[in-house]
Amino acid sequence: MSSEPTTATTPSSTAVNLEQVTYFLVTGASRGIGAKMAIETARKFKPGSIVVLLARSASGLEHTRSEILSVNPHVTVVTSSVDLATASKEVLDDILDKSISKTPLGQFGLACIIHNVGTIGNVERKAIELDDRAEWEDYFGTNVFTVAVLNSCFLRKFAGVGCRKVVVNITSKACLAPFQSMTYYCAGKAAREMYFRVLAEEEAEAGAAGVTVLNYSPGPVETDMTVDIQSRSNAPVIRDYFKGLRDTTTILTTEQTTAKFLQILQNGQFKTGDHVDYYDH
Ligand SMILES: NC(=O)c1ccc[n+]([C@@H]2O[C@H](COP(=O)([O-])OP(=O)(O)OC[C@H]3O[C@@H](n4cnc5c(N)ncnc54)[C@H](OP(=O)(O)O)[C@@H]3O)[C@@H](O)[C@H]2O)c1
Repeated sequence: MSSEPTTATTPSSTAVNLEQVTYFLVTGASRGIGAKMAIETARKFKPGSIVVLLARSASGLEHTRSEILSVNPHVTVVTSSVDLATASKEVLDDILDKSISKTPLGQFGLACIIHNVGTIGNVERKAIELDDRAEWEDYFGTNVFTVAVLNSCFLRKFAGVGCRKVVVNITSKACLAPFQSMTYYCAGKAAREMYFRVLAEEEAEAGAAGVTVLNYSPGPVETDMTVDIQSRSNAPVIRDYFKGLRDTTTILTTEQTTAKFLQILQNGQFKTGDHVDYYDH
């Protein structure tokens, strides 16, 4: 090749209209950021929409389901209790098939997936101590491999369907910068975001028929994950950072980050493939 491949920089409207009949899937929807995003996004959908919630905790998923139905009784909510560390392509395809069932895909104006599932990994050990291959595979299984496989299964279902396709990856500042004790998390988020950036680059060529990709970084949020980091991290600087955010009540709420996410998505304040942080807007 005579020149470097070009980066997709063509400005285009990425604004997403959520007020239509939508097929919507959220992973890690049993609690935390995923649950709040599922509720607040589904609130906007038109009757006939299908919302699919994945996580391990059946009771957590049921709680999210009833919250969605209380704000929008006109959607169908399907929950599936699944361990995304090990779920095979066949299991994921089966979940998608059953959720769509006999619904003609042509009725959807929008197909949207939020890859929110995430784990912090072992923050008790330093990078130099991470010599357990099974632990690496387990971490990347949940946070990278299954995410990519599910994404393929999802997009394949809607290939050839004329609806808008939107893929959201919940990412982190930790995919851009190294943080002590967070080796698995930083490495996993970096690999995961690069997968979605390549997807965006490839799909940009298809124009409006392609897939719109947003990598949304929610900022530091009050969830089980940040409680866990603050109590278990081997790095005082990390524990102190989260303690400081809590002591000064500057840690974000799931409501705050979800509102910012919806603003960015609905107003198209991103180019496909961009990494957009809570504090960017
Ligand atoms: N909180 C923050 O400050 C922050 C900052 C930047 C980015 N993020 C990202 O935001 C996303 C959500 O984080 P969060 O803080 O809301 O975390 P969280 O409260 O720990 O929730 C994680 C979600 O993932 C699900 N999950 C975990 N392991 C799973 C598995 N093996 N199979 C299926 N589901 C699984 C959990 O459900 P079950 O336990 O029921 O399976 C839960 O619904 C993550 O990707 C995280 O990296 C968070």
